[in-house]
Amino acid sequence: MTYPKVTVVGAGNVGATAAFILATTGVADVVLVDVAEGLPQGKALDIMHARSVDRFGPNVTGANDYAATSGSDVVVITAGLPRRPGMTRDELLAINAGIVRSVVEAAVAASPDAVLVCVTNPLDAMTHLAWDLSGLPSARVLGMGGVLDSARFAYFIAAETGAAIADIDALVVGAHGDAMVPLPRLSTVAGRPLADLLPPDRIEAVVERTVFGGAEVVALLKTGSAYYAPATSVVSMVRAMLSGTPAVMPSCVLLEGQYGIKDVYMSVPALLGRGGVVGIPELALTASELESVQRSAAGIDEAYAALGARG
Ligand code: 2OP
Repeated sequence: MTYPKVTVVGAGNVGATAAFILATTGVADVVLVDVAEGLPQGKALDIMHARSVDRFGPNVTGANDYAATSGSDVVVITAGLPRRPGMTRDELLAINAGIVRSVVEAAVAASPDAVLVCVTNPLDAMTHLAWDLSGLPSARVLGMGGVLDSARFAYFIAAETGAAIADIDALVVGAHGDAMVPLPRLSTVAGRPLADLLPPDRIEAVVERTVFGGAEVVALLKTGSAYYAPATSVVSMVRAMLSGTPAVMPSCVLLEGQYGIKDVYMSVPALLGRGGVVGIPELALTASELESVQRSAAGIDEAYAALGARG
């Protein structure tokens, strides 16, 4: 059996976990790339040892350069520094921009037909930068933010209501940061709107915990940030793009007039399929939801402009 080929750049916790899930669930052969000598090779070897037990099909290899990545269908970019306790994602802007720059150039040269999925923080600015540098159509450059934020919202709704996670549809759009926009009105438990199940102050508490869900993990871990849920989230996007079963997922995509927003990369529901972003079906938002979404976009735009000003 031949599998699609996915390059995962960055053999840290998010990258290695994503490689592991991509392989064990039979999504793709994986090339794990990292500048640290031995790290991607060691993690790839460890995953291949697990293959002897579970007999999953795909191969995982490790590399320090991009030769082995050529012809990838998808390149997942996780390289960069994670947050430390007390840090915002935006504080990572300048340092991770340099890393993303070098990754995009080399990865696109090796795989000019690939879809790029950015995971590096600050997510929205790094995805925009990746697109700017890649020379690829925007449909082929997207970021993982909304799937993770929506997953956290769903988890906290489940915890608050006692409902089964499978019954929950939760949606968070906007920046992958403190200005994210959870949408309780469009989030349901077994089809019932949240407002029918929880009083406004409990909905507010769940929203607040969602916004700071990543920071809560960072504070508990003390070193590094979340990786199981981020890795699972990016794999779900990759699967939608490679499996032939397109799916709508909140994804960081280039907005070109949707929601009254232009030239900003931000998470909104997007149809992911072969070739990347197949469509951006627009939600009907209330005036106040739209205002929050536009405010979130303005913050991203400002951060991205600051990066440009720094050069
Ligand atoms: C998170 O939200 C690391 O941004 C990632 O956990």
